Amino acid sequence: MNTLSLMRCDSAEFVVGAVSPKDFPDDGCPEIVFSGRSNVGKSSLINCLLQRKNLARTSSVPGKTQQLNYYRVNEMFYFVDLPGYGYVRGGKDLREKLGHMVESYVKSSQQICAILQLIDARHGPTDSDRVMIELLRSLQFPFLLVFTKTDKLSRPKLNKVFSRLESEGVLGGISYVQFSAESKQGREDVLCWIDDAVNFDKS
Ligand code: GTP
Ligand code: MG
Repeated sequence: MNTLSLMRCDSAEFVVGAVSPKDFPDDGCPEIVFSGRSNVGKSSLINCLLQRKNLARTSSVPGKTQQLNYYRVNEMFYFVDLPGYGYVRGGKDLREKLGHMVESYVKSSQQICAILQLIDARHGPTDSDRVMIELLRSLQFPFLLVFTKTDKLSRPKLNKVFSRLESEGVLGGISYVQFSAESKQGREDVLCWIDDAVNFDKS
């Protein structure tokens, strides 16, 4: 197969929940990474993109994902669901351990080909989101900001949030989409962006 498009998901399966770098798969498949604060909607976005209800476990309690969860998609690449930063059940020690693991993974992985950085549309980027955005800029991966849970905001409020972000220059030169796992707004835009970013057509 020369061209792989995520617009059609033929298979998706959980492979491993990595708790340390020795658990990372070493088969060289490209990785698409989902990053963001606890509870922002990373696991929900993965389920929505792959049209699987409960492949990635979601929870209304922040800190659900406490490992790097690898999902193999179409037998060709991985979606990597990162533990959320900001809040982790289990306290400060676990939060620091996860933070270090995520940072060293993002800085050292040879397999990452795109990163989706999620931000809650209701609040805009927090201080820790801004730190992450700067890290991503410095690493020069293709990355996309996904503003989540847009169904929770009225259209005028949403417009206000984005005019503010644009006037602050936060979005300068960065690709972004508005997304809702409830209404599926933005799903196709995200899939198209991933298809472009990973450029699987190697023929
Ligand atoms: P951690 O694993 O804790 O880091 O969280 P996460 O980023 O994976 O978030 P998750 O997908 O588990 O979603 C957290 C909560 O927000 C769940 O109760 C979801 O149902 C809800 N949620 C996620 N996306 C949306 C959305 O687009 N709209 C609405 N209304 N709720 C959402
Ligand atoms: Mg999660």
